[in-house]
Amino acid sequence: MTTRTHLLALNDELRRLKAGGQRTVSVTEEGLAQLREAVTAVRAETEAAIAPVAVAALGVAETPRPVTARSVATVAGVPVAPAAPEIKLPEGDKQARWDFLRDRVLNDSVCRARVCPGKRVVFGVGNLDAAIMFVGEAPGGDEEEQGEPFVGRAGQLLNKMIKAMGLERGQVYIGNILNWRPEMGARNPDGSQTGNRPPTAEEMAYCLPFIRAQIAIIQPRVLVALGKTAVDGLLGPEQFKSMGAARGAWHSYAATPLRATYHPSYLLRQEGLVSAGARKIKRDAWEDMLAVMERAGLPISEKQKNYFR
Ligand code: URA
Repeated sequence: MTTRTHLLALNDELRRLKAGGQRTVSVTEEGLAQLREAVTAVRAETEAAIAPVAVAALGVAETPRPVTARSVATVAGVPVAPAAPEIKLPEGDKQARWDFLRDRVLNDSVCRARVCPGKRVVFGVGNLDAAIMFVGEAPGGDEEEQGEPFVGRAGQLLNKMIKAMGLERGQVYIGNILNWRPEMGARNPDGSQTGNRPPTAEEMAYCLPFIRAQIAIIQPRVLVALGKTAVDGLLGPEQFKSMGAARGAWHSYAATPLRATYHPSYLLRQEGLVSAGARKIKRDAWEDMLAVMERAGLPISEKQKNYFR
C-alpha cells in the first residue's frame, strides 16, 4: 500500500470512530511525528488536500491531551481551521435564546477540543438586559478554570472599573471574542498550560458567530471593546492599526454604538508606573468609561468627572 492509501484508510477509521461518538484518540509523540511526516510527504507528492482531512478527522491526538489549536491549524503547513458555525437562535424570550446559545457553545466540539483536559469552555455572563456589554479577548488561566470571563487579575480590574462607573458586575454583560484559552504549546507538568497569546484570525473567525449572537440577544445600549482583539473582531481587522487609533471616538457595530478602550491586562501593566505616559493611558481609559456612561444614560457625578483631574 502507498502512504496515501494508508492515510486514507486511517482517515476512514477515524471517521468511523467519530461517527460512533468517539471524541479522542491516543497517539504517541512518535506516532504523531510519523503522521505529520507522512502527511507532508503525500502533500508534496500530490498537492492533494488529504492533510486537512486526516488531521481534522483526528480532531484530538497526542497522548493524553488534545491536539492543540495551533497544531490543528498548521500541521504540515496546511490550514485546517473549521468553518465558522452558523448560529440560528430559536424563537423565545432572551433567557430561552441565551440558554440555547450557552448550551450550544459549551457543547461545541471544536471549542471542547481546544481546551486542556479538566479546563472549561468559557461563555459570557451577566445581565441579559444590560445597557453596557463588555467584550474582551479570550479566557486566561483563571477563566478556563472557573468557566467564566474576566475572573482573574484583569477581571478584578474590570470589576473596579465597573464599580467606579457606579455599577455592579451583575448589572453589565461580559463576553469574549474567543471561547477557549488560546493554546501556547508550553505546558506545566500537570498538563495545564503557561502563558497567554492573542487568538489567531482562524480562531477568531470560528468563535465570532458566538459573540455576535450574544450581542443580538442582549441588545445592549453600548458595546465596549476591551483591547485590539475585540476591536478587530467586532469592527474588522483592517479598520484600525492600533488601539490608540481606535479609541477616543464612537464606532458602530450593527447599529449599536461601540467604544474601544484599553484591555484591563494592558492597564494592569501600567500599574505602579508613574510616568506621564502611564498616567495618560489610565486617564484615557477612564475618559472612555465616562463616554460610555453618558451614552448609556447613566448619571455622572462631579467626583467621577474629576477622577483624574
Ligand atoms: N482577558 C480577556 O480578554 N478575557 C478574559 O475573560 C480574561 C482575560
